Amino acid sequence: MGTQAPVITVDGPSGSGKGTVSRLVAWRLGWHFLDSGALYRLVGLAALQHGISLEDEQPLGQLAGQLDVRFESDGGVDEGRIMLEGVEVSAEIRSEQVAAAASRVAALPAVRDALLGRQRGFCRAPGLVADGRDMGTVVFPGAQLKIFLTASQQERALRRYKQLKEKGIDVNLVTLLDEIERRDARDGARQAAPLRMADDAILLDSTVIPVEQVVDRILELWQRSGLAGHHSS
Ligand code: C5P
Repeated sequence: MGTQAPVITVDGPSGSGKGTVSRLVAWRLGWHFLDSGALYRLVGLAALQHGISLEDEQPLGQLAGQLDVRFESDGGVDEGRIMLEGVEVSAEIRSEQVAAAASRVAALPAVRDALLGRQRGFCRAPGLVADGRDMGTVVFPGAQLKIFLTASQQERALRRYKQLKEKGIDVNLVTLLDEIERRDARDGARQAAPLRMADDAILLDSTVIPVEQVVDRILELWQRSGLAGHHSS
C-alpha cells in the first residue's frame, strides 16, 4: 500500500448545501468525490423496484452488497450520470419518495455495513471529498479535515423547494419542512451511525454564508492545515 490519499469529509443534514459545497471543493482541488447519500438512495430505489420491504434487513443488506451502480462523471463539477443496473436513474433518485426510502434503509446496520467497503473504495489519489452523514465519524474517521455543515430547517426546506421547483416537481413548502423535520429526527435518532458531528470536526453554518464562501473557507482550512503541500501530487 502506498501513502493513503487525503480525505476531506463534509457531513450534515439534508439541505445544508453540503452536496454543492463538497462537489465544488473536490472540483477545485481536482480530487474524487463521493456522494454517499446517492448510494443510500440507490439502495432505496432498488428495494422499491424489486418489491423488497423497507424493513427486511437481511435481503436489503444483500441488495446493498450486490448493487450494480456506476457513477459516470466527465470530470466536471456537474453531478454526471448515475446508473443502476445499467439504467440511468439520476433524476429518479432525487424524488421525495426515494429520499424517504433511503432514510429508512439507512437505519439498518446490514445495509450500512454492506456499503462501507464500497464507500472506502472511493478514496484514491490525489484525494477524496466525501459528502454524507457519517463520513467523519464512521467511514473515514482518520480524515485529515472534517467539516460539519448545517443550516436552519426553514432555510433547508426553502432550498429544497426551489431545487424541486426548478426541476418542474410540484411541492408544498410546509410539507417539505415537515418531511425535513421527520428525516432529521430519524437520521439523528437511529442506533446505527446517527447523524452527529465528529469531535474533531469544524462547524460551518450555511444559513447566512453563501455556498461559494463556504467553499473558500474549506479550501482555506485545508491550505492552513499544513497538509496541503504534503499531499499535493
Ligand atoms: O444526502 P441525501 O439526502 O442524498 O441522503 C439520503 C438519505 O441517506 C439520508 O436521509 C440519510 O438517511 C441517508 N444517508 C446516511 N448516511 C450517509 C448519507 C446518507 O444515512 N452517509
